[in-house]
Amino acid sequence: MRITVLGASAGGGLPQWNCACPNCQSARTGGEVLPRTQSALAVAAGDRRWVLVNASPDIGAQLRATPALWPASDGGQRGSPISAVLLTNADVDHIAGLLTLRESQPFELCATPSVLETLRANRVFDALNADHVTRSPLELDHSRPLPGDGRLTVTPFAVPGKVALFLETPDTLARSGARSEDTIGLEFRDAVSGTRAVVIPGCADIDDELKTRIDGADVLLFDGTVYNDDEMITAGLSQKTGRRMGHVPMAGLDGSLAGLADVRVGRRVFIHINNSNPVLQPSSGAACVVADVGWEIAFDGMDITV
Ligand code: MLT
Ligand code: MN
Ligand code: ZN
Repeated sequence: MRITVLGASAGGGLPQWNCACPNCQSARTGGEVLPRTQSALAVAAGDRRWVLVNASPDIGAQLRATPALWPASDGGQRGSPISAVLLTNADVDHIAGLLTLRESQPFELCATPSVLETLRANRVFDALNADHVTRSPLELDHSRPLPGDGRLTVTPFAVPGKVALFLETPDTLARSGARSEDTIGLEFRDAVSGTRAVVIPGCADIDDELKTRIDGADVLLFDGTVYNDDEMITAGLSQKTGRRMGHVPMAGLDGSLAGLADVRVGRRVFIHINNSNPVLQPSSGAACVVADVGWEIAFDGMDITV
């Protein structure tokens, strides 16, 4: 199974347009922090067939940087190797790129019913011509084949999370952290190689159900939004903790490093990394801590074969 990281950053990207934090300044000025675009992956589903996980606002640049996702160079015709787009939630950093994928190109758009309802309720997404783009509901805990050569299946599963920021109300906040169709992870299986990849860009908590789901995966791509739960508050960037944003921090007794330490995984890779996260500085103490316990920090263009 082959997975390419198109964008390794969380919402806002790195550098974020309005942010002068040390990481953003370093990324802007060619320092040690590599620039990263917003959250998306591509999973190979056969000969010149790919499935995207999320449609980032940066998808135009991501596709230009990834020759495998270019139209076939057979002259004149329109086309795309992208056979499906799977959404893990309705966050702006995961849906805004759908608007770039208009232009009467057939593909399957797969999301849970609640995320599909968010798209349906916002008419700007009607720019995706229904004659070409098939909206297909993802059923939790049911595996389905992916369009391609038939090797890959995906199983969506709910993780602790919340609705997208722009959908928050007092009601949704009361349910924050619960499992629902609003935030999901995706488990990919390759029937030929027998390998399994688990992709979770957003997750508010680590519990036994999550650990059981991940256990034995050949690769885990997991929410690396923040290192410390309060890092955005202490840096003066925001009033919110990571958990309040639906993202379990890496550090701490109840963080992802400790929580997932005893889960058996081939490779463990942090994705969806916020520009405030100190692990983005290769020379930081946080980057050393994370590397010492076997985690990799994703970067744009990272190619993972398991
Ligand atoms: C998140 O992952 O928490 C969201 O992308 C935040 C946002 O929409 O800015
Ligand atoms: Mn996000
Ligand atoms: Zn910043």
